[in-house]
Amino acid sequence: MVNLILFGPPGSGKGTQSANIIQKYGLIHLSTGDLLRSEIGDKTPLGLEAKKFMDQGQLVPDEVVIGMISSKLDANPDTRGFIFDGFPRTTAQAEALDKLLALKKTSISTVLSLEVPEDALIKRLLNRGLTSGRSDDASEDVVKARIVEYHSKTAPVADHYAKFGKFKKVKGDGTEEEVFELLSKELDELVGEKVQ
Ligand code: AP5
Repeated sequence: MVNLILFGPPGSGKGTQSANIIQKYGLIHLSTGDLLRSEIGDKTPLGLEAKKFMDQGQLVPDEVVIGMISSKLDANPDTRGFIFDGFPRTTAQAEALDKLLALKKTSISTVLSLEVPEDALIKRLLNRGLTSGRSDDASEDVVKARIVEYHSKTAPVADHYAKFGKFKKVKGDGTEEEVFELLSKELDELVGEKVQ
């Protein structure tokens, strides 16, 4: 199996590039942000609880997202691999993911981190907020809170995977096509090695 973590701050292009990667490599896309927004849309108790955190630009508690990912892994036993988008976002989530994958006799293949300057992130998200209806894109204060949360809680996840030589930075501020070409260079090699 090929298990990719697409890493990077809010607005770095994880969702956009996940769509391209799924199409080319046939991996299953697991986005905790999308899963949470679906729960909110369905007005489930989990969604209503998560919304309180998301609207403030804060992370949802670890046990909620770990539980969601665990059931998605169980629901897709025969896939050639997963692309994790927006997960793991804390070191505790990374440790939990490693354990869940080990139970399935697999592991993270690589972490590709999209590097985009902060002013470009803010611009992209405020711009998307004009049309997307995402409440966490609507104000500059919430967008900035998400970036602060990323630096304090999510950035350390890089060290967790760098320890195992599995963390790689990719320039994320080119056009969508340019960024996908850089990601493909990494993945062509990996998919060639790991998926028959
Ligand atoms: P989540 O949905 O994961 O949002 P995020 O990480 O903040 O990321 P975004 O979706 O905003 O950005 P992205 O990197 O996917 O970029 P995109 O491709 O969309 O999380 C939302 C919230 O849910 C969190 O704040 C938290 O509360 C909660 N949550 C989720 N996961 C959690 C977890 N594991 N633990 C705890 N809480 C969790 O692109 C952004 C914009 O830029 C788009 O408009 C796009 O068109 C544009 N764009 C993309 N690429 C380019 C490019 N190359 N050039 C120009 N524009 C571009």
